[in-house]
Amino acid sequence: MALRKIVTEGDDVLLKKCRPVEKFDKKLWDLLDDMAETLYDSGGVGLAGPQVGIMRRVCVIDIGDGLVEYINPQIISSEGSHEVVEGCLSSPGEFGLVNRPVKVVAKAFDRDGKEFTVEGEDLFAQAMCHEFDHLDGVLFKSKAIRMLSPEELEHDED
Ligand code: NI
Repeated sequence: MALRKIVTEGDDVLLKKCRPVEKFDKKLWDLLDDMAETLYDSGGVGLAGPQVGIMRRVCVIDIGDGLVEYINPQIISSEGSHEVVEGCLSSPGEFGLVNRPVKVVAKAFDRDGKEFTVEGEDLFAQAMCHEFDHLDGVLFKSKAIRMLSPEELEHDED
């Protein structure tokens, strides 16, 4: 396993659509291992392929109750909507208010190429939406209702 460098905003790879994963091979497993290590090192909750310069539809999420690896993910259905505070490892120190579904059901493939379905609420649903957006070259800032000021962030940390 190795840490990968996280691409930050300003790099065009973050604005491009990723291609589907076709081979569930050692190269993919190494990538997933590296992405998990990089995610835990960063302290974030999710990391997508383009954020480590890989233009494939792959991401990892851990909101604190275990890692989930998503390959070629798709949202099947979503419910509700709420305003949530959101940030991104590719936009360090910046947070904004975004409208996200309260609940989503998604399907994806695991590292062995087996399809699974996952249901998530609140932060988990938000993280899936955020990471899957990355695979289409969409950053949360382009969806933000507004960004939070440094004063508001200080207040949030109280
Ligand atoms: Ni992000």
